[in-house]
Amino acid sequence: MKIKSADFLMSNSSVDKCPTAPFPEYSFIGRSNVGKSSLINMLTGRKSLAKTSGRPGKTQLINHFIINKQWYLVDLPGYGYARVSKKSKKTFQKYITDYFLKREQLISAFLLIDIRHEPQTIDLDFMEWMGENGIPFAIIFTKADKLKPLAIQRKVEEYLAKLIEGIWEEAPKHFITSSSSGLGRDEVLNYIDNINKNLNNTI
Ligand code: GTP
Ligand code: MG
Repeated sequence: MKIKSADFLMSNSSVDKCPTAPFPEYSFIGRSNVGKSSLINMLTGRKSLAKTSGRPGKTQLINHFIINKQWYLVDLPGYGYARVSKKSKKTFQKYITDYFLKREQLISAFLLIDIRHEPQTIDLDFMEWMGENGIPFAIIFTKADKLKPLAIQRKVEEYLAKLIEGIWEEAPKHFITSSSSGLGRDEVLNYIDNINKNLNNTI
């Protein structure tokens, strides 16, 4: 898919104030600093469309971008940010869970996982929560440039095996990406493009 335009629309702290046009929407969720905002910039080919930072906790609101004037990308705040209190670390921020439960335009979430890390309880819990609430999602492994090809393969296999050991009957669809090298860009964009085309055919 060619990205002809990518524009920031608005930032919100509540799902009720999000844009109302009925465009298909894809949102990025995951731990703080995993690379959500960087991935949005990589996919759209716009270097500073979404704000990124080396320090966790940069994205604080629900940020809507409109792509090709036809579909939304959404940058969300991360969870598991170490400096918040223990209590709020355990429960996901309410406006995030509200967003996932209420946002009618949402077609699929992408849950981002840093490819270097072992499976983390908070990510497994969030996947379980999405499963229980019937929210479709795919996994995006980020920062693949930090590992060699064999290590990438091993890490991904280990991660997916852990999911199947747990509550999942089959592993969710997954992508391997790097925002610095552009790895995985075509695969993620094609995935979105195919869903969008199918949606158009069913209307
Ligand atoms: P929050 O908004 O705080 O939740 O973080 P985020 O998930 O949006 O992460 P962000 O995109 O701001 O990136 C965090 C840090 O990781 C930045 O220093 C990025 O440069 C770096 N980073 C993101 N993606 C990649 C990648 O693919 N490769 C490498 N090497 N670094 C990356
Ligand atoms: Mg961010």
